[in-house]
Amino acid sequence: MNLNPQTKISAENYLKWTEILEEFGICTDTIPRSLLETRLRMRMNALGFENFYHYHDYLKTLGRDNLEWRVLIDNLTVQETRFFRHPESLSLIEKFLHSNQQPLHGKTPPSIHAWSVACATGEEAYSLAMVINKSLQKITSNAFFGITATDISHSALTTAKRGIYHRNKLTNIPYHLRDEYFIPLNDDNYQIKLALRNRVCFSKLNVLQARNAPLGQMDIIVCQNLLIYFGPDKHPLILDALVTHLAPGGLLILSISDAFNCSHPALERINHEDTLAYRRKADL
Ligand SMILES: C[S@@+](CC[C@H](N)C(=O)[O-])C[C@H]1O[C@@H](n2cnc3c(N)ncnc32)[C@H](O)[C@@H]1O
Repeated sequence: MNLNPQTKISAENYLKWTEILEEFGICTDTIPRSLLETRLRMRMNALGFENFYHYHDYLKTLGRDNLEWRVLIDNLTVQETRFFRHPESLSLIEKFLHSNQQPLHGKTPPSIHAWSVACATGEEAYSLAMVINKSLQKITSNAFFGITATDISHSALTTAKRGIYHRNKLTNIPYHLRDEYFIPLNDDNYQIKLALRNRVCFSKLNVLQARNAPLGQMDIIVCQNLLIYFGPDKHPLILDALVTHLAPGGLLILSISDAFNCSHPALERINHEDTLAYRRKADL
């Protein structure tokens, strides 16, 4: 029997839900309470729980990678994404690589490391990989690049790793890049070529716990359409994690739609058409 849709989370229990969901990367500040209750009720109905307390206690007993947590996280997050979603940001990356070759040649062998912070089903990470690969080919013949792509959604990461997309999803990609980086599997589906897939390492990471993650120093960090899912009190924590992993001179790109008031002593704003981007100061 389904739960009565009028069943609500009590004020005291709501705090507990906030805590447990935050541990798993879900910030309840930006989810209307009625929507949160509806999404939780869906899972409770599926599993036969009669009240929010029992479902909460059940979740507490489960390990981080338990299937129920994966399903719940997918129910509470938005995985909407597109290839070349924000072309201005990608053009800034091209410009950054061409005009400022210090991050590249400061290392032996010359290399670029980039991080797609909330990569969803992979389109953002592969767009970065295509643009960086093309740019590097124009600059030097012996450069290496690698993309680290992270998200909290297990199912999104599984899709991303496969790199198979319906042809309708490829429409934003310039033709020459489509031809170069995709192979047709059948009339409807295309797969990212193995050589490009091998440049992207997908893994599960909650951005709220990213500060101490073993990511190393990145030359480019793209964190787009993520901050809107967190209240302003979480923004400094997230920004600090991003700065921690940004190499001196490195490029941080957020999205203008995140309306993020970003201020950090190690960052200086870069002016580029329709982008919200920062460079990490070299001397801090
Ligand atoms: C709207 S998508 C944005 C995808 C991509 N960055 C883009 O701009 O197209 C938001 C993604 O953030 C992920 N996400 C939500 N909370 C997260 C967290 N705490 N840590 C990491 N990823 C998170 C979601 O799973 C989802 O895939």
